[in-house]
This record gives sequence, structure tokens and C-alpha cells, in this order.
Amino acid sequence: MRIVESLAETRAWLAETRAAGELGLVPTMGYLHEGHLSLLRRARAENGRVAATIFANPAQFDKPEDLASYPRDIPRDAAMLREAGCDLLLAPPPGEIYLPGHQTWVEVGDLAAPLEGAHRPGHFRGVATVVLKLFGIFQPDRAYFGQKDAQQLAVIRRMVRDLNQPVEVVGCPTLREPDGLAMSSRNARLGPEERAAAGVLFRALSAARAAWQAGETEAETLRRVMRSVLAGEPLAEPEYVSVADPLTLTELDRAEAGAILSMAVNVGRARLIDNLILPPRGGAAG
Ligand code: PAF
Repeated sequence: MRIVESLAETRAWLAETRAAGELGLVPTMGYLHEGHLSLLRRARAENGRVAATIFANPAQFDKPEDLASYPRDIPRDAAMLREAGCDLLLAPPPGEIYLPGHQTWVEVGDLAAPLEGAHRPGHFRGVATVVLKLFGIFQPDRAYFGQKDAQQLAVIRRMVRDLNQPVEVVGCPTLREPDGLAMSSRNARLGPEERAAAGVLFRALSAARAAWQAGETEAETLRRVMRSVLAGEPLAEPEYVSVADPLTLTELDRAEAGAILSMAVNVGRARLIDNLILPPRGGAAG
């Protein structure tokens, strides 16, 4: 695996390796876990060349302290990527991606407004802008993102469609710890008690899904189920719970198969998000 920090070195690698075939891109912010590696392995299986990026994108952090405390360990991440079969790692300094005087931004409309967008002003503008930059730099055939960030995935798909990007966006399933906690770099911020408490997100989502499978169709009742499970965990401070339409991300009155159950919950210093898709009645887990 080659490790580079500049766009010039990235372009040189892209030119040198063209004959190796299609390119899969796995954008990350680093501090990798099995979830990231599952994206990498899928990219490896589907492309002749695989590149990953590690860039804690300042433009998508609404709080400077969140960016400053974002966990980082490039040597550890590089070893994991190498092991998973990555060909190139681009880990640039911020100045390589945002030139002085940067003033062009990608704004995704209604899809970026609710949920994470409402709680983290400017977040999706930062995400869409950096992802479009990475698409411009790499011109990948496929790009891989986790379903854990369901709204991010929806925003990126819409940006690709609206801006005619010739890339296939591949959404990959959420990987979970044995107690159901979705894998996330932010889990590293949890102390032992908080880590034990953090399983409450999946328990709350699962309880709402079980209520749906048992015949409940009122979206507000499903939200209430999630809130009440969360209320049973003193270390959990919910920001929102949602039962949303999968295409528009607007809140539903009546739940339906395919709807997205989601939540953002603060546990200690970690702001955690998670989601489940409502399965067809009597169907398997989403
Ligand atoms: O999901 C992430 O890690 C980031 O939002 C992404 C897609 C790498 C953009 O910075």
C-alpha cells in the first residue's frame, strides 16, 4: 500500500495504476474499526484498485472542540488498511484539500435539513463539499459509505444524482458490537460505564421495530417506545428520535416498511447516532 499526503502524489498513483482497472474509493475520517474495514473489503472484491482517504474534514464539524478531540492514529489505521488490501491511502493535511480563500460549497436542499442537519448546522454542506472534492480528485468508479450514517448516505446519493457524478454510491450495512452498539470511531470516547450504557440505542431501536412487527403503525407510538427505553438509561441524553420516510427523510404519521428509525443520543462526551430500517411485516431485521 502506498501512503501519500498530496494530491500530486495521488494523481501520479492514479495514472501509474490505470491498467489495474476500476477504482473503488473508501472515504473516512480515520480511527478505523471493523465497519470501515468491511467497506474496504467490499471495495477490494468489486474493483481492480482500492483507495482510502483519512481526512477529518474541518468543514463538517459544527463544534471546533469536536474536531480537536476527534480520535487520530494514522500508523494504526494504515496497518489496518494494508491488511484489508488497500492499494493507496491519501491522508492529507487540511491545507491540501481547502486552499486559502476557499469559497465554493455544495448545498444539498431539503434532505440535509432535518435530523442531523437540524442539530449540526452546516454539517452536510461540509460533507457534500468534501465528498465532491474527493470524487473530483479520484474519479472513482464506486464509492463506499456506511448505512449507519443513513442521512449522509441519502445526501451523498442525491448530490451524485443532482450533480451528474459518474460514480456508483455503494451503501454498506452497519456493523455492531455484541450488545448491538453500532461500530463508530466516536465509541473510543466512551468510558467503561458509558460504554455499557451505549447499548441502549440499539435496544431502543429494536423495541420500536418489535412494536412495528407486533402490529403498531402509529409513528408517534414508535417514537414514544424509543424515548421510553432511552429514559431508562440515566447516562443517555437523547437529542432526537425519528421515524422518517426513507426518500424524503420527513417525519411520518403512519409507519411503513422501509421507514428509517433513527436517533442521536449523547452518552458522556460521545454523540452517538444509529438507525434501523423497518422490515416488511413478519420480515427479517433491517
Ligand atoms: O462518514 C465519514 O467518515 C465522513 O463524513 C466522510 C464521508 C468521510 C466525509 O468526510
